[in-house]
Amino acid sequence: MTFNTREDVARGLREAGYATDPILVQIMWLATRMQKPILLEGPPGTGKTYLAQALAAAAKTDLIRLQCFEGITEKQAIGSFDEALQRLYLETQEHVIDREWDKLRSSLHTLDFFTHGPLMQAVLQPKPVVLLIDELDKVDQKFEALLLEILSDWQITIPKLGTVKAKTIPFVVMTSNQERRLGDPLRRRSLYKRIEHPDVRKEVEILDIRTVDAPLELKAQAVGLAQALRGYNLVKPPSIDEIVQFVRALQLLGEVEIRPEMRDVLMPFLAKTEEDVKRLLLKDGFRSLVATALKYRDEALAAMRATGEAAA
Ligand SMILES: Nc1ncnc2c1ncn2[C@@H]1O[C@H](COP(=O)(O)OP(=O)(O)OP(=O)(O)O)[C@@H](O)[C@H]1O
Ligand SMILES: [Mg+2]
Repeated sequence: MTFNTREDVARGLREAGYATDPILVQIMWLATRMQKPILLEGPPGTGKTYLAQALAAAAKTDLIRLQCFEGITEKQAIGSFDEALQRLYLETQEHVIDREWDKLRSSLHTLDFFTHGPLMQAVLQPKPVVLLIDELDKVDQKFEALLLEILSDWQITIPKLGTVKAKTIPFVVMTSNQERRLGDPLRRRSLYKRIEHPDVRKEVEILDIRTVDAPLELKAQAVGLAQALRGYNLVKPPSIDEIVQFVRALQLLGEVEIRPEMRDVLMPFLAKTEEDVKRLLLKDGFRSLVATALKYRDEALAAMRATGEAAA
């Protein structure tokens, strides 16, 4: 999977609804050209998973996703022999089972009787796909070692089946929230990109893409509040995704601005832990945030006008 030019990446991502910047575009372009896996690390809700999806859309290819979780097994990731199918096949061959046992046995251990997990699917595609290995920090070291082997050699070895060589090399995007530190060998083989919470400019752009018809002023205030909240020492500061939902909620409520009195209704969108709720309930906590938000709002409005003028 490759893009001819950097502009193709930029345009493709934008059309897929992903707000980027020139640095990220060039990194993604290099990664696809050099067939290097990319490791995206950063806080929840910053668009790591979405970047992989947008990239697949931009390249007009499929996305195959391996969702990681604690205790994930080789079988779940790569696949396993379908024993029921094997048994069924043997039943249909009953009349020759004695004579042709050796032949039958080897045919049972081919890909025809193998249920393909995401990793196997990805390397057997006729056309390169995006392979998203999502939330890699949830797996243990053993599983990480298994991945390493696949990503280094583009082949998968399975007992009784043998070694399956990749038909095409997928473009691999790995994501992590840093719950566990990933090993160095994996890092060495990948390009590493931190994805942080967006700055005012980028958040404005994302809100523009994702909540198209909200009034400018409201979006600017929401961006302002997001920035203020992220500087407020919360356990779980709101991500861009939560701010998008927040603007949608304000629209549903028919509000055109954020007022301190709306605190309790807006709380479920902004504070997601007991500690954070308590912090926002502190005397003047929310009121002061709304005041700080107004300062950032002006910056956001300036960015919005600049974007609007550029588009016009
Ligand atoms: N650059 C961006 N452009 C457009 N939308 C974005 C961008 N970044 C984030 N978003 C929005 O945020 C949402 C959440 O992003 P995503 O699920 O990719 O986060 P994540 O980093 O994978 O989070 P987690 O670590 O919790 O899995 C997306 O569905 C999208 O609406
Ligand atoms: Mg994700």
